[in-house]
Amino acid sequence: MYLTKIEEKMYNGEYGEYVSKAIRIIVKVGESLNASRLINIRHAHISGVGYSNLGDAGLTFLKDLARENVKFRTYTTANPGSVDIESYNYFSYGEEFLKKQIEILELYRSMGVNTFTCTPYHIRTPRFGEHLAWAESNAVLIANSIYGARTNREAGPLALFSAIVGKTYYSGVHIKSGRIPRIRFLVRDLKDSFVEAGLLGLMIGRISRDKIALLSGASRLGFERLKTLLAAAGSTGSMSMILIEGVTPMEIPMSEILENIEDTIVIDRKDIKIYHDEEPFLCDDPEAYLIGCPHNSIEVLKELRNIATRFSGKTSKPVWVLIPPEYESNQVIRDDLEFLRSKGFIILKGICPVISPLSQLGFKCIGTISSKALFYMPKLSGVKVRLLDLYDLVAEAFNYKTS
Ligand code: F3S
Repeated sequence: MYLTKIEEKMYNGEYGEYVSKAIRIIVKVGESLNASRLINIRHAHISGVGYSNLGDAGLTFLKDLARENVKFRTYTTANPGSVDIESYNYFSYGEEFLKKQIEILELYRSMGVNTFTCTPYHIRTPRFGEHLAWAESNAVLIANSIYGARTNREAGPLALFSAIVGKTYYSGVHIKSGRIPRIRFLVRDLKDSFVEAGLLGLMIGRISRDKIALLSGASRLGFERLKTLLAAAGSTGSMSMILIEGVTPMEIPMSEILENIEDTIVIDRKDIKIYHDEEPFLCDDPEAYLIGCPHNSIEVLKELRNIATRFSGKTSKPVWVLIPPEYESNQVIRDDLEFLRSKGFIILKGICPVISPLSQLGFKCIGTISSKALFYMPKLSGVKVRLLDLYDLVAEAFNYKTS
């Protein structure tokens, strides 16, 4: 692989041992993918922040980096952990777990992580054509598919190494020819709902696996439902992009895209219902509800407030509303957050209950609008899931029966 003079110096250890280790790994991965060179990135996003998935080995590695005074060379964000300093009394996973989770967050912060959220695109909007090294699957799919930015779907450690070096390898979807879909999904009569969009995403991911897909018939879903769809697709599939007709900025003529399609699959609402009914981890009676997997946008918080105003009193069960930490000080939604709190909603900043051992706290069934949560919670939190649309979830939390 061709390296610039500076990259050679990094490689040879002139910028420190860990920079050398990091660039060597990026080069090795790049060479295995036939990358001819490295490219600068504008934003790195690291995953694997929860103590439950990082473990003691990961914590020790982060301590080593911090001891060597390693700092990130580009704007860097990271996924949430299980708890933060404000929520650890609420989710009491035990002294040891909490101590180590907080330590992980502090170590990342000391190296230059700006914020902990799984929606880095709500904090710094990706620009068309810019190169990123992101590790969170929903964020990768949204950056490529909605904003037209370019990021491969990196493993957590590789995104960390890219943050240390400020570069990634020039391969995969960084290259125009790496963004051509091979499989097409034609969607018919899709309802504008979180539940249907998410289930469709799970189906697309399961069928396309690592193949970039072309999705036709879904452009009338707004950003929020597409976000749910892409997050779900990234759970069951390992692709880094879905080209959404009418949404994704087009760099390649449609005629060329269609020439490369090897398979077309038609999905309608009947198929989505069958998929839902076959899900093995559904439950009926949630002890709590979760809105914000991935973390909520300002728009969903406003939609939530509008719905909540229709119900008197307070929620009868906990409703966890997950937000990026910055939103607390955002003037545009401060009032909305206060209103939601006054109605009994629990606002959680920069954390992820989905990767957390909720079953240890006695939870068995969680209600959510997120199909990504439906996919991960039974595996990672040990709970089952009730999938609901936003209005129905809020109504149920206020103990109001919908038909
Ligand atoms: Fe975010 Fe956790 Fe869901 S990181 S996307 S809330 S699984």
